[in-house]
Amino acid sequence: MYIDRDDVVAILGGADAVSLLDRSTKGAESVAPKTNTTVLRPVDWVKPSVDRASRFERRLLFENFTIAGFTELRAELEDELRIAPTDTVRYQLATVLAQCMPTRLSLERANYLLGRATGPGSDLSNNLRDRAAEVHRSVRTMLAESKSGASGKLTQVNWGIYNRCPLVCVGCYNIFNSRTLPLRNAMMVAEKLVAAGVEELVISGGDPLEWDDILTFVDHAYHCGLRVAIDTVGYSLTAEMAEALRGKITYLGLPVDGSAQEVIAGFRKGKNDLFVRIRHALELCSEYEIAVKVNTTVTAGNIDDMEDVAQMLCQYGSIVSWSMFQWWDLRATPALTARMQIETTRFRERTQQLKRAYPQLGIWAQDVDRRARTHFFISANGEVYTFDSGALATIIIGYIGAQTVAELIASPALRKDSPKFTRSFPVSRRQQETLVG
Ligand SMILES: C[S@@+](CC[C@H](N)C(=O)[O-])C[C@H]1O[C@@H](n2cnc3c(N)ncnc32)[C@H](O)[C@@H]1O
Ligand code: SF4
Repeated sequence: MYIDRDDVVAILGGADAVSLLDRSTKGAESVAPKTNTTVLRPVDWVKPSVDRASRFERRLLFENFTIAGFTELRAELEDELRIAPTDTVRYQLATVLAQCMPTRLSLERANYLLGRATGPGSDLSNNLRDRAAEVHRSVRTMLAESKSGASGKLTQVNWGIYNRCPLVCVGCYNIFNSRTLPLRNAMMVAEKLVAAGVEELVISGGDPLEWDDILTFVDHAYHCGLRVAIDTVGYSLTAEMAEALRGKITYLGLPVDGSAQEVIAGFRKGKNDLFVRIRHALELCSEYEIAVKVNTTVTAGNIDDMEDVAQMLCQYGSIVSWSMFQWWDLRATPALTARMQIETTRFRERTQQLKRAYPQLGIWAQDVDRRARTHFFISANGEVYTFDSGALATIIIGYIGAQTVAELIASPALRKDSPKFTRSFPVSRRQQETLVG
């Protein structure tokens, strides 16, 4: 993630910023920055409450949130369970079993361990008992769902292909891995997806336009037969890039999280000229006839600004749809959740009103409950995730480099009614008439 020192000081203020910069610079030694800027990982900012003294809690740090990290932790917990079993160890092991490459068998075991851990005579604290109950709910749901038949062919894949970006967004749910797949491997994965019948690929990140190899990769994916879309903040979009992408991508996803810089800055920190740059990106898309899907993350800080956003979007002929996402508290601290989150009912009501008032914008509203465990998301390091709305938050399904797509989609963690099995990119009437020749 690129951000300069002044930006961080502006976001965090004084001493906190300096200590964060010092920490993050040390932690980022293995990641070569693209330009001469400091590499930051936003988890250090948004998740200060990770208890770094706890081996179990440390699994949530980006560098540990990998199959290798979980495998090591699991072995340690298995040993502990053998030598000195407690309900805390049972709860922790069950969480690990459910959060990394769960199978029916491992979920059955997690179910048993959680039953023991929360049953009569449990030695869990009230707080841990609540967490365990939440994990237990997810485990039981996954077990129940996994009894239903096969899910079918995966149609759409999301791929956070690059692990850096120019911003620090408040409570961004992306996991910024320290490793990314080299271009050659990424191209092979694209071929593997096509061979498995995948039709649509949404490339995101971090920010994909910051990746040096993005144009080569898009070209390859397009020629493999994938319909490609890119979700970006658009900060670095240039006329040359737009020219290279036109005709190869079905749409460019651009974020409009408010009708003015002050509103946007409630969620997206680090670049004071972001609003101007996004408007410039929208204009470039009109000029180069690239269809745009607007992405808005709806928070307590911008929900009242959505009418003004709608008015602004009506000015751009290139916009084919507007996705509105309820801000998701994945891995967020309680304080951050209190500041950012909006109630599902309020989100649904507001988006319904906007849909009625602006049918031409093709609004597609997605609340957290509907999105839970529907994603097939390839992370920058090739590990595949889905996202749960409960305590598990992110679940690692497997590794795209070593497993077939069929094996991965058979995971009990992925909901069998996921729209990823049927989804298709938005195509509005306006797009059909004006953009797709
Ligand atoms: C992870 S970003 C990657 C692409 C690009 N960097 C961007 O911001 O558009 C993809 C989308 O996720 C959204 N997003 C990030 N954190 C979120 C959260 N906690 N809840 C809901 N949406 C979120 C962003 O606003 C963006 O629309
Ligand atoms: S939402 Fe996008 S731009 Fe913001 S921190 Fe996350 S990946 Fe970066």
